[in-house]
Amino acid sequence: MNEELKKQIEQLRKEKNAVILAHYYVDGEVQEIADFVGDSYFLAKKATEIPADVIIFCGVSFMGESAKILNPEKKVVMADQYADCPMAHMIDLDRIREVRRQYPDVAVVCYVNSTAQIKAESDVCVTSSNAVKIVKELPNKNIFFIPDNNLGRYVAKQVPDKNFIFHDGFCHVHKSIHREEVLKAKEAKPQAIILAHPECTEDVLEEADFVGSTAQMIEFASQSEKREFIICTEIGIFYELHLKNPDKQFYSVGHRQFCPNMKRIKLESVLHALESLTPEVQLEEEIRRKAEIPLQRMLELAK
Ligand code: 13P
Ligand code: SF4
Repeated sequence: MNEELKKQIEQLRKEKNAVILAHYYVDGEVQEIADFVGDSYFLAKKATEIPADVIIFCGVSFMGESAKILNPEKKVVMADQYADCPMAHMIDLDRIREVRRQYPDVAVVCYVNSTAQIKAESDVCVTSSNAVKIVKELPNKNIFFIPDNNLGRYVAKQVPDKNFIFHDGFCHVHKSIHREEVLKAKEAKPQAIILAHPECTEDVLEEADFVGSTAQMIEFASQSEKREFIICTEIGIFYELHLKNPDKQFYSVGHRQFCPNMKRIKLESVLHALESLTPEVQLEEEIRRKAEIPLQRMLELAK
């Protein structure tokens, strides 16, 4: 069944001159058929380098929007219409405007896990892989970090000379990874080292031996001389971890490391997107144009 689906996907991908991008959190079988798999930063950057007419996005909606913002002339099609990140909707424009009134010199630093409309009101975008670097390079003393509270606090610790205003957004998947579970996993495998995504809560990050984006976690595990790792992020990452490191052991910490939105995307959805070239990402041109500025600034500063 899967083999037949893969064959059809392969054929349509060629016919439609399409490129399939996938995030590390989607199912392994979807990662397997993708042209490029990566973290949010890699996928945003990759989208600007693709000569194809069509991008099929296997990820959540803010990722497809970023691809469209950066490539208005391309058709960007979501593999699943309803795959959306709840965190992207945890801040509104009124709050941004209120903070701008309070701190006229503030830099609004927007984690890419946000809507195009929010990006359009921000000064610069960041991902989990480049947030510290970018915030350090900003001339502003006051930083309004939106929407993720955990990533914001993690960045603030590395940049103590700036004044941070935080928001209360969070990722429910990473929030459900509890310190007690991490400690239990460590007790069961004391020789394993702990890798965590900065969307995890502060008490989990304090236990981690390494903190980084999904791509950085994979890179760290692949370069490491250690053989065993406790992984504090969404389970989709295990596919690439095992692929790159067949002789190493990776352990999860509980049963909730599962993003229901990323997991909506199946081979059938990819095939449907290729057949129908829908649902296409559509953005109002004014919002797209305004949102492109902080995204381009991110690509520039992250170099
Ligand atoms: P990265 O891809 O930057 O590691 O972020 C993870 C994430 O939550 C994407 O939704
Ligand atoms: Fe959003 Fe968290 Fe899912 Fe990433 S893992 S898409 S931040 S809900």
